[in-house]
Amino acid sequence: MSVNSQNVLDYPNNNTIFMVWDFRESIAIKDRFKHLCALIANLNNSANVRFPNSRASVVMGIGYRAWHLLDLPKPLPKEFEEFAPIVGSRHTAVATPGDLHFHIRADEYSFCIDAASVVSEAIADIAESVEEVHGFRYWDSRSILGFVDGTENPHGGDRQYFGIIGDEDPYYKGGSYLFVQKYVHDLTAWKSLPISEQEKVIGRSKVDDIEMPDDVKPSNAHSALANVGDDLKIVRDNMPFGNISNNEMGTYFIAYASSFNTVKKMLTNMFIGSPEGNYDRILDFSTPKTGTLFFVPTFDMLDEFAG
Ligand code: HEM
Repeated sequence: MSVNSQNVLDYPNNNTIFMVWDFRESIAIKDRFKHLCALIANLNNSANVRFPNSRASVVMGIGYRAWHLLDLPKPLPKEFEEFAPIVGSRHTAVATPGDLHFHIRADEYSFCIDAASVVSEAIADIAESVEEVHGFRYWDSRSILGFVDGTENPHGGDRQYFGIIGDEDPYYKGGSYLFVQKYVHDLTAWKSLPISEQEKVIGRSKVDDIEMPDDVKPSNAHSALANVGDDLKIVRDNMPFGNISNNEMGTYFIAYASSFNTVKKMLTNMFIGSPEGNYDRILDFSTPKTGTLFFVPTFDMLDEFAG
C-alpha cells in the first residue's frame, strides 16, 4: 500500500508561518482534533488545486504530551520522547512545551495568512497559541546573519532517506520527527565582527557560500560541529524572522528527520562541544528561546485519526 507523507520534504518557500499551540483542559479536545486532521488534508488538497505552482502546504506535528492526551496509537514512534534540555558549560538548549506545531509555507504571504487563520479558528477554543513566528526569505536564502542557510541539506533521494521514517519503524513509516528552536541573535555583537571572523564562526565564505578547507576551518565552527557524518543528516528548513525596531531578529530552526537521535547528536556537539567544552561559536551570537520535539504522522494516519 502506498504511504502518503505530509509535505515535510518541500524546499523552503518565500513565506512561512510557524505556530505552536497548547491544549487547554477541555473535554472537546478529541472531537476537535478529528476535525483538525480532516482540515489539514483539506487545506493541502485545496492548495494543490487552486495554486498548483505556489508550493503551498501546511504540515501538522503533534507533541509528546498531546499524543497521550489524544490517546493516539501505542507503542509510540520509536524515538518519540519529550525533548530534555541539553546543558553545556556556557549555553543551554532549552526545552519548552508544545502540543501542536503548524508549518505553513507558500510563495504568497496571503496563503500563509489565510491558512493560519483557518487553523486558528478551528482550535482557538480548545488550545492557546504559545508561539507564532512569521518567517521570510532573505535574499538568496540567507539567514539573518547574512550567510546562505541550507546548502549542505540533503538533496534528491537523500531527502527522503534522511527526512522520512522507513522500514525501521514499519507502523510509522512515512512519518517524520520534527524538531524546532526559536533562536534570537545578538546582531549588534555579530555585526561588530569582521567578515573574516564571521566566516570562521560558520566555516564558509560569506558572499559566495564556499566551504572552508578542513585544515583552515576552526573546530568550533558551526558547520564543523553540526556535521556528524555523511550518513547522519537531517532536512533543515530554517527561516529568518524579526522585528527591526527592537532589534529582535532571529532564526526559526526547523528540522525534519527520520531519526531524532541524529538531531540530538548535532545539538550535543553544538551545546556540550566536541571535545566537551569546544562548543559551537554560533551560540555566542544566538540564544534558543524554545526547543520542542513533535511527530509528523502521514496523511493516511491523519485520515484514520479523523475517523
Ligand atoms: C542559530 C541557529 C542556526 C543558524 C543561523 C544556522 C545556520 C547555518 C548555516 C549558515 C549553515 C551553512 C550552510 C548550510 O550548509 O546550510 C549551517 C549548516 C548546518 N547546520 Fe545550522 N544553523 C543554526 C542552527 C542549527 C542547529 C540547531 C542544527 C542542528 C540541530 C544545525 C544543523 C546544521 C547542519 C547539519 C549543517 C550542515 C553542516 C555541514 O555538513 O556542512 N544548525 N547552519
